Amino acid sequence: MSSRQRKNRTKTSTFGSPGRINHDSSKFYNSKLYEGLNNGKSVEYIENPINQQYINKIFCKSSESMTELPDDSIHLMVTSPPYNVGKEYDENLSLEEYRNLLKQVFRETYRVLVPGGRVCINVANLGRKPYLPLHSYIIEDMQEIGFLMRGEILWDKGSSVSPSTAWGSYLKANNPVLRDIHEYILVFCKDSFTHLNPYNRKSTISKEEFLEFTKSVWKFPAERATKVKHPAPFPVELPYRLIQLYTFESEVVLDPFAGSGSTCIAALKTNRKYVAYDIDKKYCDLTERRVKQFLQEQFTLFPKTDR
Ligand SMILES: C[S@@+](CC[C@H](N)C(=O)[O-])C[C@H]1O[C@@H](n2cnc3c(N)ncnc32)[C@H](O)[C@@H]1O
Repeated sequence: MSSRQRKNRTKTSTFGSPGRINHDSSKFYNSKLYEGLNNGKSVEYIENPINQQYINKIFCKSSESMTELPDDSIHLMVTSPPYNVGKEYDENLSLEEYRNLLKQVFRETYRVLVPGGRVCINVANLGRKPYLPLHSYIIEDMQEIGFLMRGEILWDKGSSVSPSTAWGSYLKANNPVLRDIHEYILVFCKDSFTHLNPYNRKSTISKEEFLEFTKSVWKFPAERATKVKHPAPFPVELPYRLIQLYTFESEVVLDPFAGSGSTCIAALKTNRKYVAYDIDKKYCDLTERRVKQFLQEQFTLFPKTDR
């Protein structure tokens, strides 16, 4: 670094927002606040190949054990877990049993992610009496597994959420109840904050997308369950944004709770590959149908000779 560049470096300021050019944040990260925290390590990049016959495939089994996948083979995991709230695919688990199920799947995810690989978990909180902050339980459990947290996105579902009138005591302070119109997307990574790219794969995100997707509040409508024929689908837009932001072209995206296969479609749409799991045969079949339909539509729009 030249002396001119050094002079131009900004420091974390006592008040107000710091500058963005060549910012020196070492004082902040060396402060007591960060003492003893896992702040990543320098790791060698390893990427083991996945058996070609498992690429772009959904496995109809529990993702508690993903023996089809070697260690260090997945670049991004995107999912929304089952909520354990009595949807037809939910088991009636205690909070502890539920957290243990998710922890087991996320431990497996840690094993199969490449160093620097990312995890994005879409989750909504539950209940009101009391409110169950699932997102904060998941953050605790992910940190215990060893993941580094990168941030959280608030997904504002706005007017697409059915106008619930479950507001408790209407126009009175006795017991007004918050009506959630948001969900979380929790973002983590394994071992290193940087996803190295020794194979020089291409980023495919546009400038406009990058400026929008790096904001911590996202606003787009929810997906209609009746349209997709799954009780709790997320829109393809959600995994699409995460894949564009966090992976390079031709990398592999995992969804361990695939449901109707929205992540699989987003992976194909962005020229990535997927591996998915769902315990319910009905949803594995649904995923396969949706993927087939997507590929047919693509073929009609862009016949091979035009590509
Ligand atoms: C919230 S839904 C996922 C919806 C998905 N994001 C979509 O867009 O359609 C959760 C899914 O997890 C599946 N599931 C529940 N327990 C599972 C397990 N142990 N292993 C794999 N899938 C499981 C359920 O069958 C359900 O389809």
